[in-house]
Amino acid sequence: MDRTSHQHGTASATPRGGLSPTETTRPVQHSMRWYQSIEFKIILSVAITTMVINGFFTFLYLDVQARHLDETILKNATQLSETIKKSIQYDMIQNRKEHAWRIMQTIGEQEGIEKVRIYGSDGTILFSTTREERGTMVDKKVEACYACHAEEAPLEHLTISSRNRIFPSGKGYRILGMINPMYNDRECFSGECHAHPASQKVLGVIDITMSLAEGDAEMRSARGQIIAFNILSIVSISAIAVLALLFFVGSPVKQLVLGTTRVAQGDLAHVIPIDSDDEMGHLARSFNHMTESLQKANDEIREWIRTLEQKVEERTKELKETQFQLMHTEKLAALGKIAATVAHEINNPLTGVFTYVKLMERKIEEGKDAAPDVEKFREYLSTMSREVQRTSAIVHNLLDFTRPKELSRKTVSLNSLVDESLGIVRNKLAISDITVEKEMDPLPDIPADPSQMKQVFINLIINACEAMEGGGVLTIKSWHDRSRNTEMISFADTGPGISPEELAHVFDPFYTTKEKGTGLGLAVVYGIITRHNGTIEVKSSPGSGTEMIVSLPTD
Ligand SMILES: Nc1ncnc2c1ncn2[C@@H]1O[C@H](COP(=O)(O)OP(=O)(O)OP(=O)(O)O)[C@@H](O)[C@H]1O
Ligand SMILES: [Mg+2]
Repeated sequence: MDRTSHQHGTASATPRGGLSPTETTRPVQHSMRWYQSIEFKIILSVAITTMVINGFFTFLYLDVQARHLDETILKNATQLSETIKKSIQYDMIQNRKEHAWRIMQTIGEQEGIEKVRIYGSDGTILFSTTREERGTMVDKKVEACYACHAEEAPLEHLTISSRNRIFPSGKGYRILGMINPMYNDRECFSGECHAHPASQKVLGVIDITMSLAEGDAEMRSARGQIIAFNILSIVSISAIAVLALLFFVGSPVKQLVLGTTRVAQGDLAHVIPIDSDDEMGHLARSFNHMTESLQKANDEIREWIRTLEQKVEERTKELKETQFQLMHTEKLAALGKIAATVAHEINNPLTGVFTYVKLMERKIEEGKDAAPDVEKFREYLSTMSREVQRTSAIVHNLLDFTRPKELSRKTVSLNSLVDESLGIVRNKLAISDITVEKEMDPLPDIPADPSQMKQVFINLIINACEAMEGGGVLTIKSWHDRSRNTEMISFADTGPGISPEELAHVFDPFYTTKEKGTGLGLAVVYGIITRHNGTIEVKSSPGSGTEMIVSLPTD
């Protein structure tokens, strides 16, 4: 493990963003209102279309029929009017009015003829099938006269269309009125009997009014029949559309919906029983094909998962065995390394001591009679004592490292422990010409083992001290990291710094770049901090000093 970065992980397990399935898709609706169904929509469209088209053509047809009827009646009326005119012309020239009046009376009694009248040029009703009107003056403002007398001077020539008028009778049917002017022909103004002056153009007007009751009744009946026929056709087209839709669309769609619901519920064996050749049949077949493929894929995935699980299980077992063997080998290797290092570390000073002991023995043997060279012996003994002390330090540190002492936690102030540690190494700092700068924030007390914690701080201060051989500045800072709820202490020196390659090993036991170092200082520090559930981080690069940052949980 790379012990150069022991910070608490900052990556927090926050839930991943993204939309849940319900937010992206509409849930399947199982019940549907009748007006939402496709059948209803199509039937409504068919009914409306039939109604509009039928209505339009019916209107057109009725209009044409009515016109045709009116034209026929008009033609008949014109013929009748001309017949009357011709029938009475001779009698009028012969001045046989009574004879002429009788003809008109007979014609006026025909069915459908309301009234026949003749007006004189001055407006006198010369003849009318209604006897009481005879001899009276006609009102020129009434409809029959309006065609000629709308202007101040009466018109002498009328078009066929302006001779007719249709108006309500007031008895529930319409009336067709037709006027036919009698012109002053040559026979008239040259007749011997009663010659009219030649300048008079119009002698009088024949006015025939005919009842349109029969035609109107016919039209009403035709209209009623056509409307009934239309309603019947809309109802029957809609009914046929309903049945066809239910049979060809409704029922297959229901089967498809049921199928998709069953598949959505996980029933991939469901088959839609539609076998028609239309689009629905194609859809059902491709749906069945899809579920079949899904079923196959599902089976394959299940098989893969089963095989995968089996393989993972086998591999895990193999890995566990390998890991166990590796750990065993690593343990043996580490033990061997430690044994070799310890043997080497201890062997050096012991060899030195042994050499001096042999030297002293030989000196004593050689100068049995002479007095021993006390000065030399003192020098030898002093060297031997230094070597023994070094051996003792190695053994002491080794014991700290391999058999960590139990934590004896007390509520302590880290700032005070830093001060106490500085007090212990005060002399060493002074001799090494090192200035200490402190930027300590007030910290809450925490539960920690004070003596072990002091050991940590002393080791870090001594390392900084040893790194700044010709003097320097040691900056000690402390602060409370509220976001992580930890107490932070940092030791920054102005020493030569550590190269990236060395940085990876500074916490390894017995890793040292110093002639007299044991390489156990930082390994012991790391052990103590870890047992306090804290972390230690090193920030260093050659030429820019080294900063050791200890972080300990507040509680
Ligand atoms: N502040 C520092 N500046 C530069 N190098 C450092 C610093 N602290 C540690 N090191 C490097 O890390 C190595 C390991 O340090 P550690 O404290 O474990 O052992 P040591 O100091 O060499 O020996 P001991 O602690 O027994 O005296 C040191 O030899 C040194 O190379
Ligand atoms: Mg050290």
